[in-house]
Amino acid sequence: MKICCIGAGYVGGPTMAMIAKQCPDIPVHVVDLNEARIKAWNSDELPVYEPGLLEVVTEARGRNLTFSTRVEAAITESDMIFISVNTPTKTYGMGVGRAANLEFVEKCARQIACVSKGHKIIVEKSTLPVRTAEAVKRILSSSGNGATFDVLSNPEFLAEGTAVEDLLTPDRVLIGGDSASAIESLAAIYARWIPRERILTSNLWSSELSKLTANAFLAQRVSSINAISALCEATEADVDEVARAIGTDSRIGPKFLKASVGFGGSCFQKDILNLVYLCEHFGLQEVATYWEQVVIMNDYQKRRFGEKIVKTLFNTVSNKKIAIWGWAFKKDTNDTRESSAIYVCRDLIRERAKLHIYDPRVSQAQILLDLQNAMLDSNGQLSAVDKMLIEQNVTMAADSYQAAENAHAIALLTEWDEFKTLDFKRIYGTMPQPAFVFDGRNILDRQALGKLGFEVHAIGKC
Ligand code: UDX
Ligand code: ADP
Repeated sequence: MKICCIGAGYVGGPTMAMIAKQCPDIPVHVVDLNEARIKAWNSDELPVYEPGLLEVVTEARGRNLTFSTRVEAAITESDMIFISVNTPTKTYGMGVGRAANLEFVEKCARQIACVSKGHKIIVEKSTLPVRTAEAVKRILSSSGNGATFDVLSNPEFLAEGTAVEDLLTPDRVLIGGDSASAIESLAAIYARWIPRERILTSNLWSSELSKLTANAFLAQRVSSINAISALCEATEADVDEVARAIGTDSRIGPKFLKASVGFGGSCFQKDILNLVYLCEHFGLQEVATYWEQVVIMNDYQKRRFGEKIVKTLFNTVSNKKIAIWGWAFKKDTNDTRESSAIYVCRDLIRERAKLHIYDPRVSQAQILLDLQNAMLDSNGQLSAVDKMLIEQNVTMAADSYQAAENAHAIALLTEWDEFKTLDFKRIYGTMPQPAFVFDGRNILDRQALGKLGFEVHAIGKC
């Protein structure tokens, strides 16, 4: 058995590294068109930051784990091919802003059809709209070389920041397909380290829909508690106390009830919008509207946070320095896709604030790129004013202290652990008064900061 994976991103890289670690006798070849990314996977500066990942990669790399750009060779040599390419939300044409852009998946399927001989198992790892496997199957069946294929759906449920842990001990692995022997080939790989009872099987369509549904349910919980956070601020209730009170009800459970400045990441918004698009496609308008509200709530939560900063700073942030702590969409990852920080900062920049940004793992180039993309108009152009604002009002800071020096306010947007243990006395001494802190993740000790003289605003607290 030889395996390859097309796409060396946040999903493909860590997943294949774990399979290679657990199955030293199976050659695993990860390929990507992006040369810089492959080069990074072959170095000690991996393109994806995940606690514990470097150890897993180093153990298997050179033994049975290879990274290269030789896509066609990898396909030809493998018995099982994972497709783990990106499926971003469409930015143009039919289904714009909702449907998934499947051009990368289609391209992979065509490449596989073109170069394959014999029998191969194709595994969809990317999150795909329901019935994508149908399209993949059709493209594959047009292979002129007499090759035959089984198509499986094996969605990845790992969360970024905890990828290694999630891959090592997943709650479940889901394999959808209609060939029992193909399902068993893949199940046997996972069974090397995951108990059989956690390996669920289903038909292809249930598997595809389960991934979208899982993300929609998780995002819905965050939007629900965030909706309640706004009500807490109006009623002197405390959202953490409410979350604890409802989370101890075993029917509700404690997870995904942490109020925040809004959810981000590559999956939640994209998958819900995709679900909305599917529902509309099938004429289920009420169902579409129901799920879309989860995203609308999330947009409101991000906007509300920025507006609160402006209102609290005496209705103007023009030319005021504001420290931004954190840019990634959550802690322990360098991924910034759909991070709330991007949208909060875009709004603050347009209010003419001067932002000094620090994130322990995100590069300056990435932060600037994210801001530019968030400020593009509907024609994909960056206006002269926005360009000037980014150039003149955005500065990168080397650490949290530098970002906060002389700042009117600190906005904490990612829950990095290092923000909890800073020397706040020192920070207070470098800021003009009143010194404001806006904790978008509710991780700081409000009472302690209050005693030092800070005015602290958190989510869902008065
Ligand atoms: C998610 C799913 O959890 C995972 O199963 C799926 O495979 C991919 O999408 P991920 O996007 O990596 O994973 O991160 P997750 O931990 O789910 O967090 C998503 C967002 O919600 C983050 O911005 C996080 O900060 C936010 N969040 C999460 C909250 O604001 N409050 C919570 O209680 C939980
Ligand atoms: P995810 O979070 O789903 O892993 P990423 O964007 O991090 O998404 O990774 C997807 C990867 O797939 C990118 O590195 C991209 O270069 C790669 N990719 C996309 N299309 C192809 C293709 N046809 N052949 C090889 N690699 C591809």
